[in-house]
This record gives sequence, C-alpha cells and structure tokens, in this order.
Amino acid sequence: MKLSYPHVFERATDPAAPPLVLLHGTGGDENDLVPLGRRISPGSALLSPRGKVSEHGANRFFARLAEGKFDPAEVTRRTHDLADFIVAASVEYDLDPQRLIAVGLSNGANIAAAILQLRPGVLGGAVLLRPMVVLDQPAAAGSLAGLRVLIASGAVDPIVPVTEPPRLAALLRSGGAEVELHTSPASHALASSDLSAAVKFFSSLRAR
Ligand code: MLT
Repeated sequence: MKLSYPHVFERATDPAAPPLVLLHGTGGDENDLVPLGRRISPGSALLSPRGKVSEHGANRFFARLAEGKFDPAEVTRRTHDLADFIVAASVEYDLDPQRLIAVGLSNGANIAAAILQLRPGVLGGAVLLRPMVVLDQPAAAGSLAGLRVLIASGAVDPIVPVTEPPRLAALLRSGGAEVELHTSPASHALASSDLSAAVKFFSSLRAR
C-alpha cells in the first residue's frame, strides 16, 4: 500500500520496546530524529514521516500564520491527515497503537499534542520536546485515560513562553492523560537533561 507521507521505517530489534513515531521540528526531515529514537528507546521500531508543508523550503507538519500564531482550521486538517497516515502505517508495519509513542520536537511535538487532543486512539503516549499550545481545546474527558506523556521544556526557551507547558499539560490531563513536566536549563535546542528525562520515561513505561 502507498503511504501518504515520505518516511523512514526501522523494524524493532527488541519486541519489548514500544514502537515510536518520530516527528521532526521545522526545517528537519524524516532522518533527523532517528538517532535520538535509537538512543532514548533502544530496540524500538521507528516510524519517521517528513512534514508535507514547506515554509520557504523548511519542512513542517502544518503551516503557521507567524511564529507562535496558528490557524486552528489548518492545524486541525493537517492533524487528521497525519493521524490517518499513522493509522495506515500502523497496519502496514504491524504496530500496536496502544503502545505507539510519539516523540516530537518543536513543530513535531505540537502536532503530536494535537493528535492526542483530536484523535485519541491513534497514539499510546508521547514525549513532547519543546511543545506549546497550538489548539486551545481540552482533550475529551476519558479519551486519554491511562496514557503517559512527558513534556520537556527549556527554562530559557525564546520561542515557548514558560506558561505554555503547564497549559498544554492541563489540556491533556482533561482527557485523563498522566502528564509529567520536565524543565531543562536550556533554550529551544535540546540538552542532555532532555535525553535523560526521555530515557527515564521509557524505562518507567517498560517497568509497568
Ligand atoms: C510551531 O510553529 O509549531 C512552533 O512555533 C514551533 C516551531 O516550529 O518553531
């Protein structure tokens, strides 16, 4: 079957490791987060699509009006399009949606959060690196029950105001998700403490 996003897929080498969907940041591509995925969850299957929107040549998962300004209709349409791809790819590659963890960076984290808000059932959890609120709507009550989410923010991030991560956490908790907030002494770029927090998140998932 022809899947609707250019992507890379790596098979699992450890069946106990959860499959990951890797969602790159603005200007990235499907190869960007593969080394990160291998590092934070060794042995996981890795599904990594490339965003279809081009902002002056920089790949993204949805268009924006300006930095930090979003059109909810555009975000909603692109969220459903990516969610449909993930559902189709999960069938094609035999990935269990209940175990499927999105690992998104910046724009990729934002669309992963939107999938949790709009399409519960597509993902089994998420690691959101430097997300902000792009859809100001709470997840439907009970729709994210039992799901675990890590939100990793930077204390001196010039793009994400410090009020955003707790606001996003509240929107996801409305659906019943168990959300952990982690703040690194970092800016919008990832730091080593983000990686340690993600590694800890995956070991505690596996310990359950
Ligand atoms: C976004 O547009 O999703 C956010 O501003 C993050 C970014 O891509 O810089």
